[in-house]
Amino acid sequence: MGKYKIGLGVTGGIAAYKAIEVMRLLQKAGCDVSVAMTRHATEFVRPLTFRALTDKHVIVDDYDPANPDPIAHINFSQEIDLLLIVPATANIIAKFANGIADDFLSSTYLASTAPVMIAPAMNVTMWEQAATQRNIERLKADGVRFVEPVAGELACKTVGTGKLEDVENIVRQALAVLSVPPAVAGGVLRPSEKAPPATAGGTDLAGEHILITVGGTREAIDPVRFISNHSSGKMGFAVAAAARDRGAKVTVVAGATLVEPPENVRVVRAISAEEMHAAVMKELPEATVFIGSAAVADYAPANASGAKIKKDGRDFMILELKKTRDILADVAKNRTANMIVVGFAAETNDVVGYARSKMEKKGLDIVVANDITAKGAGFNTDTNIATILTRAVGSANAGSSDIPVEIELPLMSKRELADKILDEIIKLRNAVPVNAAKSGNS
Ligand code: CTP
Repeated sequence: MGKYKIGLGVTGGIAAYKAIEVMRLLQKAGCDVSVAMTRHATEFVRPLTFRALTDKHVIVDDYDPANPDPIAHINFSQEIDLLLIVPATANIIAKFANGIADDFLSSTYLASTAPVMIAPAMNVTMWEQAATQRNIERLKADGVRFVEPVAGELACKTVGTGKLEDVENIVRQALAVLSVPPAVAGGVLRPSEKAPPATAGGTDLAGEHILITVGGTREAIDPVRFISNHSSGKMGFAVAAAARDRGAKVTVVAGATLVEPPENVRVVRAISAEEMHAAVMKELPEATVFIGSAAVADYAPANASGAKIKKDGRDFMILELKKTRDILADVAKNRTANMIVVGFAAETNDVVGYARSKMEKKGLDIVVANDITAKGAGFNTDTNIATILTRAVGSANAGSSDIPVEIELPLMSKRELADKILDEIIKLRNAVPVNAAKSGNS
């Protein structure tokens, strides 16, 4: 990678200290980072920290006599390949959305033609406020990219969406924007204008909004340790990419993953089963299809410790676990009319038998079952071997005792399997339910 120039804008929130790690990771990736801070940001982190680590003047106020460049907002803004705001407050988002340029950072936004990426962090009520959401929609329409905040415990001790996304993921997404040719990244086009059309590979899923859970969850034991599993996120992300290419609107709720999310897909991060449940329920009203591909922990520590647990000379330790809420089952129970609900069953024996009982118990339309012990299937591989169980076409009742259709598939790439799953969703969508057909004839 060439030496990309990043303008890192830091605004006034508790998460401002995390911008230091973002800067370090960008530098490690070979980027040249220049930092601009709002005045409130300097209440949380001293400009000196960034200055020492970048060896450059940190601009807070371009009218400051100490500023070596008298027209910094013009020179700074025109030299950068990406303007990255970490963390972004509701205030800076509002200023950007409305073209207000009353400080260095907001003036830089107006004076720059580089792509812009914003990683917000704020209190949940401020995040959910209609004005904030309106400003975000406006900026998205202007081509600004967002790294959405995640759900979790916030600095104000409330629980909800508003926590800054994981710094590594912010950097990954920033670098993904820069992997376009430098002439484009630093030029007049903003990312959304460069994005390939969503329907590049076809349109048979146009009009569907597919909500997918991906990856594994992490259940905290204490602030240092957690319980998790081997899920890589590859299968779920393959489904997300395939659905995007077939014209669907896609939202991914992702836990811990080993691979990067596909481009042009909205990603909401939720690390624990509880956070994932909350994120899914929030997104559900917009969805027409739900696909539960995440390996959600079935049990989580009953009483996670707020402080690191010490050995204290013990040879044994008992960890009490409590059952997590079943996201897939709750989605099926709360489904809107015509919603198609798809689950996964990763098994080691009697694969189809267990999958069939899952379908019935949870009220599912489709179950993708696989034997994770088979060669070429399972976690962190690029291939899979699956049997798709689907509600008999013509049966109106999801999870009914009607015998499901079994489609046994050979070894194939996760992307090919993703398309097979989507084919079955389309078949169900186009099928005339038995009940509807009966009433139509009477
Ligand atoms: N799932 C979920 N929420 C949970 C647990 C599982 O949404 N708390 C979803 C998974 O995303 C997957 C399916 O349910 O689609 C897996 O079903 P499940 O019965 O939980 O499988 P196992 O965990 O393997 O269950 P068991 O150990 O009982 O076989």
